[in-house]
Amino acid sequence: MARLTVIRGGRLIDPDQGLDLIADLWLEGSRVVGLEPPPGAVPDKIIDATGLLVTPGLIDIHVHLREPGNEEDETIATGADAALAGGWTTIVSMPNTRPPIDTPAAVEFVILQAKRAGKAQVLPSACVSKNRAGEELAELGKLYEAGAVAFTDDGAPVSHAGLMRRALEYSKMFDVPIYQHCQVMELTVGGLMNEGDVSLRLGLPGMPPVAEEIMVARDIMLAELTGGHVHIQHLSTARSVELVREGKKRGIRVTAEACPHHISLTDENLATFDSNFKMNPPLRTARDVEAVIQGLIDGTIDLIATDHAPHAPEKKNRELDQAPFGILGLETMMPIVRSSLIEPGLLTWPEVIAKLTIEPAKLIRRQQYKGHLRPGADADVTLIDPDRAWTIDTAGFRSKSINTPYQGWNVKGRAVGTIVSGELRYMLDPHRETVMV
Ligand code: DOR
Ligand code: ZN
Repeated sequence: MARLTVIRGGRLIDPDQGLDLIADLWLEGSRVVGLEPPPGAVPDKIIDATGLLVTPGLIDIHVHLREPGNEEDETIATGADAALAGGWTTIVSMPNTRPPIDTPAAVEFVILQAKRAGKAQVLPSACVSKNRAGEELAELGKLYEAGAVAFTDDGAPVSHAGLMRRALEYSKMFDVPIYQHCQVMELTVGGLMNEGDVSLRLGLPGMPPVAEEIMVARDIMLAELTGGHVHIQHLSTARSVELVREGKKRGIRVTAEACPHHISLTDENLATFDSNFKMNPPLRTARDVEAVIQGLIDGTIDLIATDHAPHAPEKKNRELDQAPFGILGLETMMPIVRSSLIEPGLLTWPEVIAKLTIEPAKLIRRQQYKGHLRPGADADVTLIDPDRAWTIDTAGFRSKSINTPYQGWNVKGRAVGTIVSGELRYMLDPHRETVMV
């Protein structure tokens, strides 16, 4: 018999099954057994989850690992390790590496490196266009066969409408969505931050919200035309939320994600001129933040993803105009989501957990085995201490980079245990800043 684990006495939250109760959870090998033990079972391992939330393993569908090519920022191993510390059991890697992930061999390389690391599971996404150049469609069928769970040129948009149309048409054959980074490049040349009152005041070049919104509108229309599935990455403006809402009403196959930074920070933060507030799309206005949160509440925005974008200090700690776009996300999501959504009473824990588990599982078409704790599901489980107080400190980060805007924040809520495929791969001491596993 495979190894039996019981997670005792936690608050079991499984939104897919509508479960929210104090219960035990039994795992056998790499599968979930359920809330009751198999007959005559004696557990090999007991994990005490008293006072903790026990949830399906969290899935982050938007993570930049920098391997191959920029291992000074992050590697597949360090990123997958940072994921464990954030409570993520599965992450989807972005293909904007050097070279980009646009061949079956490159997809296989990511899968192999992730297996070797033995941390969080990594499912690769692959490029829409060859070399991410936006000109020629990559061989989507072969990339899919090699294991790509999504296609995206993220970091840049698929600007060419004809190419986007063909990508949406073609990807329908494998039922894989096209993730789009929505940005009309001609409108954002030289931009460092959101274009608006604050950029005017600070004298910094801006990126207008319409640069995002025009492409959101275009791609929803292309999804309608083709019947393909477009997924809007890191949606950040009020109008984008409206457009997705309307698209969904019309029955178009559009989904969307929001990032923790877009619901917790605004363009006012750029007054510090700190490059850790620089990412793309940029921090928007308080009104946009409210609208994005409203989109999460009413289901217009399906899920939360981090856009974890590590950059080594020697690159990121430069003048605002020289520094690259992007901030870390894996190890800070939980407390930020707690303070932005749960503490003010906007969403409940089960509602938030749905956007971190079953919703992303559906997007990567893994809902049969992932995103829930039904009998037979993958034994991926996250343990969360919902009220644990801690101070965000890059000194303890597992990521290779330290580019977070949340350094020094006193926060509450933390993943304290991460079980992947039935193995406890991360566990924090209940009382100390000490990692036990
Ligand atoms: O801020 C960002 N950083 N936005 C992107 O779209 C790409 C990412 C990166 O790769 O650093
Ligand atoms: Zn992006």
